[in-house]
Amino acid sequence: MPDPRPTDRLQALPPWWRRYRLLLVVALIVAIAIAAAAGAAQARIDAAIMRADPATILGSADLARPALVQGHAGFVAHCASCHGDGRGDPTRGIPNLRDHDFLYGSGQVAEIEAIVLHGIRSGDPRGWHLAAMPAYARPLPYAAEPAIKPLSPAEIGDVVEYLLRDRARDDAAAARGQAIFAGRGACWDCHEPDGGGNPAVGAPNLADTTWLYGDGSAAALTATLKRGRAGSCPAFARMLSPVAARTIAVYVASLPGKPA
Ligand code: HEC
Ligand code: HEC
Repeated sequence: MPDPRPTDRLQALPPWWRRYRLLLVVALIVAIAIAAAAGAAQARIDAAIMRADPATILGSADLARPALVQGHAGFVAHCASCHGDGRGDPTRGIPNLRDHDFLYGSGQVAEIEAIVLHGIRSGDPRGWHLAAMPAYARPLPYAAEPAIKPLSPAEIGDVVEYLLRDRARDDAAAARGQAIFAGRGACWDCHEPDGGGNPAVGAPNLADTTWLYGDGSAAALTATLKRGRAGSCPAFARMLSPVAARTIAVYVASLPGKPA
């Protein structure tokens, strides 16, 4: 059978199409115009978010809401697989992002944005990678500087007893552990002499009750001292647009938690 001519094909369409086609075409044009306007409005907001000082976005009447909506969606898509709802998971060394107790920096949007873009021990040279927790049961506990000597199981036990502080059962062992902490263990070098930690190298506070790994029990502390730790947060610079990274950082900074 030969192909019907175009006009015949039009005749073959259902009668409602013939009646409403003009209306449908106009509706389509209006929909495209609305979508284009919405896209332009979003582009304007995105540009304003990128122009703004990151620290001011949460306080901005115009930018806070759109930034949080976009940031929440980005967090769910890219971060929640590890960070959950922000509360983290001490069985996997995932820090709590709601406790305002930061491994790195002080929780400023710009600092969080840098972590989103470049990560922590992610392989990205612009990410955090200044220090890791040495593995004191290994013959060579630490590959990088400072050179660190291993500790015997008894010495590790003494340091753990010292870290238990008020909960320590053995005062003599805790005193020996304190000497190792301040001396040949070199713990002070990263965690500071008072154990308060150093957010410039990501060394956690050991004097509080917040633990990155486990529950602060002797068993958890022993595992950390023996095997070392080097938690890693991926770099998203190649995966996310600048505005996606910034809005995620704004969202993280907005998470409710107890003040520092
Ligand atoms: C594969 C798991 C994983 C994913 C995905 C991930 N993170 Fe992380 N993140 C970690 C781990 C593990 C750490 C702790 C690193 C360490 O031990 O120093 C961390 C640390 C952080 C920190 C530092 C917290 C502090 O106390 O200073 C921030 C902020 C952070 N992540 C935000 C994010 C955001 C935002 C995303 C999504 C864009 C994300 N992470 C995706 C695993 C992940
Ligand atoms: C070269 C720097 C460095 C030295 C030296 C060092 N640490 Fe660490 N330590 C770290 C870093 C960095 C982390 C966090 C690792 C991570 O985020 O995965 C850490 C983590 C820990 C943790 C886990 C804390 C938590 O919240 O779960 C404990 C406990 C700890 N260190 C104790 C010690 C003790 C005790 C010594 C000495 C015997 C010591 N560290 C020496 C850098 C160091």
